[in-house]
Amino acid sequence: MSLQSWPEPVVRVQSLSESGIKAIPDRYVKPPSDRASIVCSPSVKDANIPIIDLEGLFIGANVLGGPGNPTLRQINEACRDWGFFQVVNHGVDPKLMRAMRESWREFFHLPLESKQQYANSPCTYEGYGSRLGIEKGAVLDWSDYYFLHYMPQCLRSHEKWPALPSSCREQIAEYSKQVVELSGRLMKMLSLNLGLPEDFLQRCFGGEEIGACLRVNFYPKCPQPDLTLGLSSHSDPGGLTLLLPDENVPGLQVRRGESWVTVDPVPDAFIVNIGDQMQVLSNAIYRSVEHRVIVNSAKERVSLAFFYNPKSDIPIAPAPELVTEDRPALYPAMTFDEYRLYIRTKGPRGKSQVESLKSPR
Ligand code: OGA
Ligand code: NI
Repeated sequence: MSLQSWPEPVVRVQSLSESGIKAIPDRYVKPPSDRASIVCSPSVKDANIPIIDLEGLFIGANVLGGPGNPTLRQINEACRDWGFFQVVNHGVDPKLMRAMRESWREFFHLPLESKQQYANSPCTYEGYGSRLGIEKGAVLDWSDYYFLHYMPQCLRSHEKWPALPSSCREQIAEYSKQVVELSGRLMKMLSLNLGLPEDFLQRCFGGEEIGACLRVNFYPKCPQPDLTLGLSSHSDPGGLTLLLPDENVPGLQVRRGESWVTVDPVPDAFIVNIGDQMQVLSNAIYRSVEHRVIVNSAKERVSLAFFYNPKSDIPIAPAPELVTEDRPALYPAMTFDEYRLYIRTKGPRGKSQVESLKSPR
């Protein structure tokens, strides 16, 4: 199978939605076990992912206080228990966050021709896309997206970012800069929480040479939301994800045992989650958690997922400090370039990749 082109003509989900069809094409109908309607309601205690206030935890880039710090403890607990949390007072400008989300909404509402010039291919995935994976005849998700690189610098090419709306490129640059800073701080907190020096995880990721990319998701209204998903269950392949969800439309669901918890977004917060590379590095002390997106018939939804990843050609393996006789290394070393080929070829498939990696014992 080649990653050079899509196996069949690309259909924009937004065009399908806007055509006014009353039934979704078979291509988007999920097997019953995957459908959104199969939700066991969680107990009240499990109602929402933890919300953590980062106010005062940093002066500049320095974490205040050691592992005894209550905020660090909350983060540690959230990483171990949920793999997901929301952060408020995180240092990224809320005005910029809202402006960025609205610019992207505007982008998706441009005429189709203005978007088609950025049509992507499975070679790099950069640009305007409507599927993940290249298997012919695969069941597809009810969403379109835009994918772009911010880091490393050599992959950053402004021509691949939308020229319209006119403020978009400038906003992407500023937003990404601020979100990278926040990610760097989170990396320090996670390092400390794992009992490692604060720059440990950042060094494993390649120091200044990390990868960072943005995936803007657009979930159009869906006439039969109970039959499909906006994004199938998956764990994020990279390091950390910082998601800016739609303020008004819930949709993200996080796996909690056998059930799915719908995240209730806090205004101006980021939803942070652990990716597979963090699971590997921490030798599964932290685990990436499956999540998916449901759609609805009344409202479209826009979300911005910022992925903070290791430099793509560094082998990532469990940190030797976290490998003991009782807890041998669970995963072999692999570069992120090799690792992400799986999802880029097969599409979102729960946690099947990181699970299959487990060294036999
Ligand atoms: C993703 C993702 C969730 C959302 O892009 O990987 O999980 O709410 N998005 O759009
Ligand atoms: Ni995700």
